[in-house]
Amino acid sequence: MIIDVILTPAELPALTERDLGRVVCVVLDVLRATSTIVTALQNGAAAVIPVSEISEALETGRRRPDVLLGGERKGVKIRTAEGEFDFGNSPREYTPEKVRDKTIVSTTTNGTRALRACAGARLVLAASFLNLGATVNYLGEKRFEYVLIVCAGTRENVALEDVLAAGALCESLLDIGAATELSDSAQIALAAFEKAQWDLPGTISKSENARRLLAIPELSADVEFCLQRDVVALVAALKGEEIKRLDF
Ligand code: MLT
Repeated sequence: MIIDVILTPAELPALTERDLGRVVCVVLDVLRATSTIVTALQNGAAAVIPVSEISEALETGRRRPDVLLGGERKGVKIRTAEGEFDFGNSPREYTPEKVRDKTIVSTTTNGTRALRACAGARLVLAASFLNLGATVNYLGEKRFEYVLIVCAGTRENVALEDVLAAGALCESLLDIGAATELSDSAQIALAAFEKAQWDLPGTISKSENARRLLAIPELSADVEFCLQRDVVALVAALKGEEIKRLDF
């Protein structure tokens, strides 16, 4: 398995120029899009539809009155002339009572865009620290030839927490003997994780995304929540327009 890593969202436009037909993309947006998506699925949501724009979410809601709307801009719940969304982007909002059997349309600043940018890939997985182990086990079992880890980032910048999660993924795939070659960017992510792993919360609390969330009282607990390791035992895959639990 050859592993490559996209470290910043600035690299995403070039993805549309690449033939991803033999590539499995693993999208990481630790704070908080992919953490929220896998939590919603764990809590019984039928699917999450990632869209890039607020207008797309509203249009889907008009077309499908059964769906719920979630997401954020600047970290907080979206409010439009048509009213506020059902959810923000805190994983703690997506409780079983609220999401069971529901389909949720989600738009976030970076995470949903990164997911859509991988649309041409052989397979697109949404991963986080919450379901890293399940994702590693799946990738290891399938022994895919090419894995591209996509760090969603923060606006146009690299997100430290995403790179560290990419490094953790690389380390685990090396540990189970699945990874045979790491690109330079994958080796950067691995080196960063190996240095930070003994105090991930302390290291990640200094990231731009974490500092923003920690400064908002009702969102500050999201940082600790999203850094939990392997509390979600599912693999989340984007098929067509929907992200669902992958049964394998
Ligand atoms: C993103 O998509 O950039 C993040 O998920 C933003 C957030 O959740 O605050």
